[in-house]
Amino acid sequence: MSENTWSAVDAYFTGELNLADPVLDAAVRTSVAAGLPSIQVSAAQGKLLHLVALAQGARRILEIGTLGGYSAIWLARALPADGRLVTLELDPHHAEVARRNFGEAGIAERIELHVGPALDTLTRLGAQRIEPFDLVFIDADKPNNLNYVQAALQLSRAGTLIIVDNVVREGAVISRERDAAAEGVRRMAAWVGKEPRLSATVIQTVGDKGYDGFLLARVQPA
Ligand code: SAH
Ligand code: DHB
Ligand code: MG
Repeated sequence: MSENTWSAVDAYFTGELNLADPVLDAAVRTSVAAGLPSIQVSAAQGKLLHLVALAQGARRILEIGTLGGYSAIWLARALPADGRLVTLELDPHHAEVARRNFGEAGIAERIELHVGPALDTLTRLGAQRIEPFDLVFIDADKPNNLNYVQAALQLSRAGTLIIVDNVVREGAVISRERDAAAEGVRRMAAWVGKEPRLSATVIQTVGDKGYDGFLLARVQPA
């Protein structure tokens, strides 16, 4: 079984289930043309985020790591008209491209984009006693994964779902020579496993984006 097969299967279901649409495809094209790395979630993964947001009845979503706004558009499309997606991005160029893509997608008014280090923004949001989020998608610098999960928990309520992208990275998470990203995932997983307020699992994935996986955690009632 090769990476080619995974991609071909993703392409097959993306076709059968109509997972691609012109607005999302254009957002990727605009991002690539602007020089952004092509590390957004796949269409199938984006649709999963969208369905989870709908199943959750999410009115407030937090995303950490915007890039060109591809996953943000999937998530924002699941929001009711008065819903909000708060998305955090370090790189001003990425943020500018995302803003353009949000405009083209017709969802800009549902999105609050904060430019700067996500930890700073999260500290500010925490101090503002804002309404808790219903869903959090963590997909930024992996060494900060534990900090992001802890901040997300602070901004959550019982029942909030937290998803962390890229926790497997071709098995790097358990490899002998682990990089800073893998160590970031491991610190996060070790902490989540001991945190009684969280109930969590990891699902490994293959497809368009290679071999990876995501962590799904639910904030438990006190
Ligand atoms: N969620 C996006 C992909 C995000 S890629 C999608 O699937 O469409 C990761 C992003 O995190 C990059 O744009 C990178 O600039 C951003 N990032 C890296 N470090 C960050 C930090 N400290 N604070 C906020 N964003 C950061
Ligand atoms: C990388 C980051 C991501 O969020 C992702 O989904 C894939 C790759 C990266 O930094 O290489
Ligand atoms: Mg990712």
